[in-house]
Amino acid sequence: MATNITFHPDAGSVTADERAKLLGQKGVTLWLTGLSASGKSTIACALEQHLLSLRKFAYRLDGDNVRFGLNKDLGFSEKDRNENIRRIGEVARLFSDAGAITITAFISPYKADRAVARTLHEDNGLPFLEVFVDAPLEVVEQRDPKGLYKKARAGQIADFTGISAPYEAPETPEIHIRTDQNDLAQSVEIIAEYLIKHNYV
Ligand SMILES: Nc1ncnc2c1ncn2[C@@H]1O[C@H](COP(=O)(O)OP(=O)(O)OP(=O)(O)O)[C@@H](O)[C@H]1O
Ligand SMILES: [Mg+2]
Repeated sequence: MATNITFHPDAGSVTADERAKLLGQKGVTLWLTGLSASGKSTIACALEQHLLSLRKFAYRLDGDNVRFGLNKDLGFSEKDRNENIRRIGEVARLFSDAGAITITAFISPYKADRAVARTLHEDNGLPFLEVFVDAPLEVVEQRDPKGLYKKARAGQIADFTGISAPYEAPETPEIHIRTDQNDLAQSVEIIAEYLIKHNYV
């Protein structure tokens, strides 16, 4: 922990309400969680595109722009996964604070980690919506777009969620999407309708 640092004492000259009024939108984090191949990235991309087409400032945090950059020093042990999610939680919080509709797409298998991300937001007055991108293991294993389940079953990947590492499903997510029962367009619509119904867009 760094010492000799003090948080800037001035809250800034723009309040959160003024920022929202000036930008014409409020920040919110949509936290997508689910097994590998459940559809998080696919839905996040389509949702981001949909929101941008409505001229909303939306931004996606996903494996490529986080695991290869900010978190490239982290692996997949429980400790590293904890730290991975903690950092993503902090970055999502900053984006939401800046007014973005922030869409995160990470397996985030541990309830406690998602709770940390939620607390980070709620303690700062920012809405956090947990989106359970849900499909049964048999289905995602069948999809296996990256061939990861096959490798995990063959013992070539350690700590693979759903196979050799746990996935702790959310009990009370704000949004629950069964991607084995809804196609991509319907999945995006479920989220978009929730945002409209609850006045986030
Ligand atoms: N309703 C749906 N929503 C999203 N994806 C779907 C749906 N139905 C089928 N799919 C397919 O499931 C696969 C989901 O892959 P995707 O990369 O989005 O998963 P992911 O949850 O991001 O996995 P990972 O955690 O490994 O990044 C894609 O091949 C996609 O075409
Ligand atoms: Mg993904």
